Amino acid sequence: MSKEPISGKNTWRPDSWRALPARQQPDYADAAQVARVEATLRGYPPLVFAQEARSLQDQLARVAQGQAFLLHGGDCAESFADFAAPKIRDTFKVLLQMAVVLTFGGSVPVVKLARLAGQYAKPRSAPTEEQAGESLPSYRGDIVNDREFTPTARRPDPGRMITAYHHSAATLNLLRAYAQGGLADLHQVGRWNMSFVEQNPLRDRYQAMADRIAETLRFMEVMGITPESVPTIRETQLFTSHEALLLNYEEALTRRDLRDGAVDQDARWYDCSAHFIWIGERTRGLGEAHVEFCRGIANPLGVKIGPKVSADELVRLTEYLNPHNRCGRLTFITRMGADTLERRLPTLVRRMQREGRSVVWAADPMHGNTVTTAGGLKTRDFDAIMREITQFFAVHKAEGSYGGGIHLEMTGEHVTECTGGACGLSQDDLSARYRSYCDPRLNADQVLELAFLLADTLKTARRGQAKTAE
Ligand code: PEP
Ligand code: CO
Repeated sequence: MSKEPISGKNTWRPDSWRALPARQQPDYADAAQVARVEATLRGYPPLVFAQEARSLQDQLARVAQGQAFLLHGGDCAESFADFAAPKIRDTFKVLLQMAVVLTFGGSVPVVKLARLAGQYAKPRSAPTEEQAGESLPSYRGDIVNDREFTPTARRPDPGRMITAYHHSAATLNLLRAYAQGGLADLHQVGRWNMSFVEQNPLRDRYQAMADRIAETLRFMEVMGITPESVPTIRETQLFTSHEALLLNYEEALTRRDLRDGAVDQDARWYDCSAHFIWIGERTRGLGEAHVEFCRGIANPLGVKIGPKVSADELVRLTEYLNPHNRCGRLTFITRMGADTLERRLPTLVRRMQREGRSVVWAADPMHGNTVTTAGGLKTRDFDAIMREITQFFAVHKAEGSYGGGIHLEMTGEHVTECTGGACGLSQDDLSARYRSYCDPRLNADQVLELAFLLADTLKTARRGQAKTAE
């Protein structure tokens, strides 16, 4: 099923995107300073290693084949100001708790992918923002400018790319330590309960599952299966990801992989800013810079897919981004909104099947369900989020394809940004702890509740479901 790239692979270079229209890029005033920053970044060590990205792609191939589940989540936007260990730890913990619930409850291995350690660039609906008659450049994420509404803060500063690199490196370092240094030990599952779980109506269900895991581990220990003999009991693998939006930064962290003594010409290029990168809904235009940059990168890729996408566009995207139809290479992340998804998705799934295209399907139930309150806060309702998730799995089940994963904006903190859920947050509660720099995130309570509901959905969806052929 392999097809040749639309334009020859040889025409791709890490900077070939520069000849094409690039949406959502900052207007830097000083090109010489940008070039200096890029040169500095090119000299820095890669943040991830090509072999790790290949390992993630292998795991995503299992997702595409219906043998694993992708859990992708984290902040809408990380910020330099919130850069602290407890915040990273809590997001890590809640991702792991979700993964345990899904693995145990849904009987499926879970690939864990964090929107962390680099999620600093944001697409905006308008290039400028008006306040009290003043117009300034929009806030485009901490890698570009500052959120404060002053001319100095909003001026795009190339030096922020260096700060983003160092923040990403430190975050990744901590995540690696958590993943391998004992915090991920399954024996700890019961003890991961943070204070929020104490008041959570689902606490008993979570505790019952933790008890069952502990019992299973005791049995395994008796059988000689211990953390020493089987490290997966005590360690986990957590991959990182972000939207590859700011192309100057992504290009500067792109490296040739010279493994196996490959001669320079045959070596593949990896974007070493993260294991997985994705193209956003606003920048996935064919013949534009983001698709061009990503097609030459060997990391596994995602593309966000909104309600207006056509089946033809999807086919073209697969031809550009996955010409050799490699399993696990390409993830389509649908974000269409509850009720729209069930009308649009079946045609797209059928077309991919007809074309014999291997894709991972993941549901982002967040970005199509954003509403603004009378008080001007962006929010999302838990019921709409769950509805889009349920529809996603129902469509895949009906079409005989595999709903491979979910993509969430979430945090381990006790924020009040999304309404609903068992904790019963109303729009009036939102201002209490609304901390997002960008879009509203599910809090730790809501995310755990979602995991339990999802585990049930997965169990039902997997029952009798046809597996997608490679
Ligand atoms: C996001 O994931 O934060 C985002 C901007 O998504 P999308 O490109 O789907 O709008
Ligand atoms: Co967002």
